[in-house]
Amino acid sequence: MKILVAGGTGFIGRVLCQILDRRGHDVTAAGRSPSRSVAGIQTTALDVTDADLTDTVAGHDAVVNLVALPSHVQPARSHDAVHRQGTQNLVSASETTGVDRFVQMSALGVDSDVETAYFAAKRAGERIVRDSDLDWVIYRPSVVFGDGCAFLPFLRKLAAARVVPLPGGGGLRIQPIWVDDLAAMLADGVEADRHTGETYELGGPDVLTLAETVLLLRPNAVILPLPMPVAAAGAMIAEYIPGFPIGRDQYRVQRLDNTVSSDDLAAFGFEKRDLRSLSAYLQT
Ligand SMILES: NC(=O)c1ccc[n+]([C@@H]2O[C@H](COP(=O)([O-])OP(=O)(O)OC[C@H]3O[C@@H](n4cnc5c(N)ncnc54)[C@H](OP(=O)(O)O)[C@@H]3O)[C@@H](O)[C@H]2O)c1
Repeated sequence: MKILVAGGTGFIGRVLCQILDRRGHDVTAAGRSPSRSVAGIQTTALDVTDADLTDTVAGHDAVVNLVALPSHVQPARSHDAVHRQGTQNLVSASETTGVDRFVQMSALGVDSDVETAYFAAKRAGERIVRDSDLDWVIYRPSVVFGDGCAFLPFLRKLAAARVVPLPGGGGLRIQPIWVDDLAAMLADGVEADRHTGETYELGGPDVLTLAETVLLLRPNAVILPLPMPVAAAGAMIAEYIPGFPIGRDQYRVQRLDNTVSSDDLAAFGFEKRDLRSLSAYLQT
């Protein structure tokens, strides 16, 4: 297949492009800076906020939308421009040019009752994809870790001090998934018809609190509960936990739980024990 990976120069995109390439596909990674090279993969310039993307999309059998704006970015309208309107622009170009398969990356939590600009725009992006004439698959992963991710440097920074202040004592629950495991499932979604029309929630083998992830790196760390809301700490965590609310609403933050409600691994022939855990990854 000829596959365009929008956001293919990013953290998840690079791994996906290489898996698709190894599976024999003709892959192009696209982003605003095509000079961000991906070993062995051709790149092209693409800004999804451009209204007409037909020239870039034309000739592809499948489009994967991995374009991302980190969840903490302000102002809120940037999320709408990239995650909603950008998805609309990609979907319209895909419909016009006869793309067979559209894979949309969303995020865990988009349909929770915790509202953030990131979640609202991601949810709107999902709706556009579902309402399209395309054969689509939607993915909602928890936090993704692996080489080149933003999450582990963040954890290392947190764990650098013995006393680690965390909002609410770091009780927020996440289910980190290894980028290579997720990318293999994304590649299946591009290739196999049985995934069409499905929305998959995907997490790794372990549910961990944020405090527990810090203790993986520094077992003797002392977690200092910060009373919430603490806007600065919220903003810091929002940079790495997709959808983490920034602001003064303590109640919203405490309800955010970045774990799967249904286990969709079986759709890809996986069980939890087949996936790489964060602790195993950190030990290598
Ligand atoms: N990483 C996680 O933990 C996680 C968790 C849940 C969901 N997700 C979702 O997974 C997807 C990929 O995330 P990631 O971590 O790989 O993100 P990333 O490393 O930040 O990569 C983002 C990609 O999007 C491109 N991009 C940004 N703005 C663009 C625009 N206007 N037009 C075209 N391309 C643009 C970037 O390249 P340029 O900057 O050169 O344009 C880059 O290739 C996103 O949808 C994200 O929301 C990620």
